[in-house]
Amino acid sequence: MFETLPAVGMDPILALMAAFRADSRDQKIDLGVGVYQNDSGRTPVMASVKEAEAKLMELELTKAYQGIAGDPDYNKHMMALLFGPRHRILNSGRIKSIQAPGGSGSLRVGAEVVKRASPNAKLWLGTPTWPNHVPLLGSAGFEIEQYPYYNPTTHQINADGMMETLRQVPAGDIVLLHACCHNPTGTDLTNEQWDQIADLALERSFIPFIDAAYQGLGDGLDEDGYGMRMMAERLPELIIASSCSKNFGLYRERTGSVTFITENSEQAEIVASQAMAVARQTYSMPPAHGALLVSLILGDEQLRANWEAELEEVRLRIKSMRILLTDGIKGNPAGFDFGHIERQKGMFSFLGITAPQIDRLRDEFGIYIVSSTRVNLAGINSGNIGYISDSMNRVLS
Ligand SMILES: Cc1ncc(COP(=O)(O)O)c(C=O)c1O
Repeated sequence: MFETLPAVGMDPILALMAAFRADSRDQKIDLGVGVYQNDSGRTPVMASVKEAEAKLMELELTKAYQGIAGDPDYNKHMMALLFGPRHRILNSGRIKSIQAPGGSGSLRVGAEVVKRASPNAKLWLGTPTWPNHVPLLGSAGFEIEQYPYYNPTTHQINADGMMETLRQVPAGDIVLLHACCHNPTGTDLTNEQWDQIADLALERSFIPFIDAAYQGLGDGLDEDGYGMRMMAERLPELIIASSCSKNFGLYRERTGSVTFITENSEQAEIVASQAMAVARQTYSMPPAHGALLVSLILGDEQLRANWEAELEEVRLRIKSMRILLTDGIKGNPAGFDFGHIERQKGMFSFLGITAPQIDRLRDEFGIYIVSSTRVNLAGINSGNIGYISDSMNRVLS
């Protein structure tokens, strides 16, 4: 029966990763893949995670299934992390969160629940967005529409275009927003823009669906939560998919959660029952290990302080790589202004160079960058910044 089944092309980022692995040159640098690397070029296990793992080894008495909604303590801690521990929404009865496999699983469960609630709702994605949003959310059955987000000429948000399009979104449609550290552009909404989108959501009755994959990597845990916290305060309905892959470094543990805010507590119970039904019909129970670690870390004052300090180190390291790269290519022969790299946030920026320049960086210099020109700043370190800057200056000549 598989004779006629066509193969599916590889995701371009995964294809780039495969090409990087197959490259036998000693001097090669991966600025493509979306994982954090430290100054030694490694993606380490955080020390707080290691400590929590040692604790879990002692405390864990069973590997029996956990509930469909995952670990209740984890769900509570995640809501408090997203909204801050004193946010009014937490005790309102209007909120429900269930653990799901990573940010991706959380996005998908959220999408499936929306589809059940509102089969004709369309999904609006910014241009550009994380490329996997399209297959991940689209295959839940959504018709996808686009709103302009980034202006590659100004390297800023196309605020007029975005607002003009959002002003036309029909009632009941879903608008996907990135909480912070926009992937792929690194260009985040200002607090004022968040406020304006909330105004429009109220006026037009569309529902924001926030993807929070990088809380803490932009301006800090609280600062990065502004949009979610304000919208939870002002809007009747909101969906958030959050991930612990980046901020806890738990990529392979598939640790995330999907949070629903509804108009009242009865609706919250119904929505949670639907989310659990989606889980049961797909993966059944979420993986436990990562969530138990997060729960241990967030529930212990000392471990939490250690984790926050480590996360801050990650955030500041990426920021300093932004400054080093901007400085390193400031005097490039093409006279290109790369000041936007320094201003943008999170792991990614669009370099805004040409496709042949991207190809030359890979073929001549072994520097791998996604064809969209998205660069992972966390792939830069004190050992390779000189080489990267020199190579870019040569390619830009
Ligand atoms: C914007 C965005 N959303 C969601 C995800 C998915 O995260 P996870 O690896 O936890 O599934 C990513 C990962 O790269 C991302 O960049």
